[in-house]
Amino acid sequence: MANSFSKREAITLDGTPDKRLYWSIISDYDIQTALCELIDNAIDQWMGSNPRAPLVVDLVLDADRQLISVKDNAGGVGQSDLRMLIAPGKSRNSPTAESIGIFGVGSKRAVVALAENVVIKTHRKGDKTYQIDVTSDWLESPDWDLPAYEIPNINEGETSIYLSALRQTFTTSYVEHLKQQLGETYGWFLEQKGCSMLVNGESVKALSFECWAYPPDFPPQQAFFNVDLSGSGTIRVDMTVGLIRDRNPATDNYGVYFYCNNRLVAKELKVREVGYFVSSEAGVPHPDASLCRAIVRLNGEAKLMPWNSSKSGINYSHPLFHAVRPVLLQLVAQFSSLSRRLKDDWEEKVFKHTEGQVQKVDSDLATQGKRLFLPPLPRVNKPHIEHLKAKNDLKIAEQPWTLGLVEAVAAVTILTRQKLETKNRIALILLDSNFEIALKEFVVHRGDLFPPKEYTDSKIKELFQRRPNVISEVSKKVAIPQNLLDKAKHYYELRNKLIHERATVGIIDSDVENYDRTIREILHILFDLDL
Ligand SMILES: Nc1ncnc2c1ncn2[C@@H]1O[C@H](COP(=O)(O)OP(=O)(O)OP(=O)(O)O)[C@@H](O)[C@H]1O
Ligand SMILES: [Mg+2]
Repeated sequence: MANSFSKREAITLDGTPDKRLYWSIISDYDIQTALCELIDNAIDQWMGSNPRAPLVVDLVLDADRQLISVKDNAGGVGQSDLRMLIAPGKSRNSPTAESIGIFGVGSKRAVVALAENVVIKTHRKGDKTYQIDVTSDWLESPDWDLPAYEIPNINEGETSIYLSALRQTFTTSYVEHLKQQLGETYGWFLEQKGCSMLVNGESVKALSFECWAYPPDFPPQQAFFNVDLSGSGTIRVDMTVGLIRDRNPATDNYGVYFYCNNRLVAKELKVREVGYFVSSEAGVPHPDASLCRAIVRLNGEAKLMPWNSSKSGINYSHPLFHAVRPVLLQLVAQFSSLSRRLKDDWEEKVFKHTEGQVQKVDSDLATQGKRLFLPPLPRVNKPHIEHLKAKNDLKIAEQPWTLGLVEAVAAVTILTRQKLETKNRIALILLDSNFEIALKEFVVHRGDLFPPKEYTDSKIKELFQRRPNVISEVSKKVAIPQNLLDKAKHYYELRNKLIHERATVGIIDSDVENYDRTIREILHILFDLDL
């Protein structure tokens, strides 16, 4: 049927955006994210120009006066391009360039998010020097026109952005933190491209995360492959995964790190999407896996990158992330598991191995996301018992009654590695019984402290009717720190709740770990066992 409406009668809608569009982003940006947008632009401009003097980005953050300025010598903006600095969506970058900027919004959003007053001065070689003032009046007015006026020359090739009436305040200690973040984010440009960055006159040092350990059979694995995004373009992937030597338990500096076109976009990712499984209540994976780090470098057209629009995170539903994920998951699983299996002696088995070679995985398999050939992981269970017994062989020979105590300690460790839903409950019962038996063995076998004449069979039998009495007798003869006794008492009561109370109590991983450590320490005090 013919359309009865004619195009000629159509009304014209005004698609001019409203300034309100800025409101949404003010709350999205923190100072670091916003400053990085400005640095990204200087880097893009500089990388795309030829010939070029070394790039210098000079940041001043005055905590007393709450002022920020960012100056670069990347080339400046000419008159015909000045509107790129204020018109949302405008960009000079080609969508196929291997740049950082792509969306045409970074600088605009960043300056507005940072400050109510923004002054931009820029001088492109062969052009004049211009100034643009982005003020709250302009942001509040419906009009998009903004004057750019000529001012006395600043250095050729320079762009300076002055920010005042800041929307977020900062302290001097934040400035130190920022320096480190910039060193990490732009490490490659600082180190490989000779760029420099100054913060309040001090140079930012390049920081990298490639602090690998090379255990003899388990060096880091590197996968190089290309991802062809169904006709849109090809991205080069360079992924290295291995065990690290610079683990810092306070900062949880492990996980997956993503660089896009050499700029760090996300670090220390430990979520299910990248292969970490969070089961503990603290919301982070178990620390046993904490020596596994993955560094993923993606290079190619900016428009194909899986970053979010402020380049501060990864979009897990992006097709490029999906293409990289199968290889990433295999390698993260391999090294997380290795980290766990070697945890009884990270010092000897991991940290000591400071030198070696990164091993390359089969790039055809990686390209197709297939199963990689990775070295078989060391076995754990049997060696653990043998290791404990070997460490205590003399003690066990002298006091054969301690063999059962040592094996029970090993059994708890083995148990905690099993896929049993109620393993914590079994472990608690085992730990508590081991403690009780340990007390009995101590009383029965230390005739020097508990003379059989005084501690007759019937007295011992009576004594063992009540745990607190046994502990009090033992404590008279040997000093057990009160905190250990308190913990033992707490878990004894927890075990009793399992037996006597109507509702079943839940026992979490940290309870088992804590009681396990307590029992090992008490066994050391009572029998000089090294557990
Ligand atoms: N410091 C600078 N030196 C030279 N040109 C700049 C500078 N800052 C911005 N520009 C120009 O302004 C344009 C817009 O920058 P903006 O950050 O808004 O967008 P983008 O970098 O293209 O994309 P994205 O939103 O992904 O950052 C850039 O393409 C660049 O041409
Ligand atoms: Mg940009």
